[in-house]
Amino acid sequence: MPKDSNGHLIPGSVSPRRTVPASITKPEYVGRPAPAKFTGGDVYAPEQVELIRESGRIAASAIEYVAAHIRPGVTTEELDRLGHEYVVEHGAYPSCLGYRGFPKSVCTSVNEVVCHGIPDDTVLDEGDIVNLDITAFKNGFHGDTNRTFIVGNASQEVTDLVSRTEEALARGIKAVAPGRQVNVIGRTIESYARRFGYGVVRDFTGHGVGAAFHSGLIIPHYDSAPEFDTVMEVGMVFTIEPMLTLGTHEWDMWSDDWTVTTKDKSITAQFEHTIVVTERGAEILTLPAEGA
Ligand code: MF3
Ligand code: CO
Ligand code: CO
Repeated sequence: MPKDSNGHLIPGSVSPRRTVPASITKPEYVGRPAPAKFTGGDVYAPEQVELIRESGRIAASAIEYVAAHIRPGVTTEELDRLGHEYVVEHGAYPSCLGYRGFPKSVCTSVNEVVCHGIPDDTVLDEGDIVNLDITAFKNGFHGDTNRTFIVGNASQEVTDLVSRTEEALARGIKAVAPGRQVNVIGRTIESYARRFGYGVVRDFTGHGVGAAFHSGLIIPHYDSAPEFDTVMEVGMVFTIEPMLTLGTHEWDMWSDDWTVTTKDKSITAQFEHTIVVTERGAEILTLPAEGA
């Protein structure tokens, strides 16, 4: 069920939707086809940034908690259950659950899945990679982060892809400064990725996040200049979430309307942080709790 005879992923079966206690406030879009149009901005006051950080810490700590359970034989459905439970136990709503109809609390994107993989009965094997993308909503604010993990040991080529994708995110974050256009971020990421001949996914991007899951502000991961010329300001909050591939940047969509794979089925990795623009650069808002 989870993989075909070429080792490529195929859709599995998705378990029933999980519940969230009534005491946890849900984002407005849950139970609706799409979020309401967001009319706010991307710049937040310091007190609001602290609330985004609290949500971001829950999301990042949930990823650490789930990742400790990654091993050959585990299903992506089991990883979703763990992530859901962690987020809810910390008083937050898992923002993916019911977002534009997404059926699960965690995005689990394996091997050639670029992003938005739906947890199902897919069994992880030694040498697979899996991205866990978790967003938490608490006190009216979302924090969004993801990381890619290797199941056991993978080939050197795949191991390098994963570590260099994390490095690409770090370089994108370092390019952030007030007064610069957001397109410097993608220029930095793409120039690094090109050294290794990696594909840089263009059609899925970073985004403004905070009061809305996706505010409308777009942060490309490729060199988009002179487009995407929004000037960064102190207090602006957005994600950077590069997706790099061992092959093409082109993609296909499964008939579930969520799962995005590379068109050539090449392996792809992603890392994501939510950041706030500061006087001196950027500060990461999605760091895990100490000892979590
Ligand atoms: N967390 C993803 C992002 O980085 C969005 C997932 S949308 C979902 O933007 F519906 F798939 F959850
Ligand atoms: Co995001
Ligand atoms: Co995300």
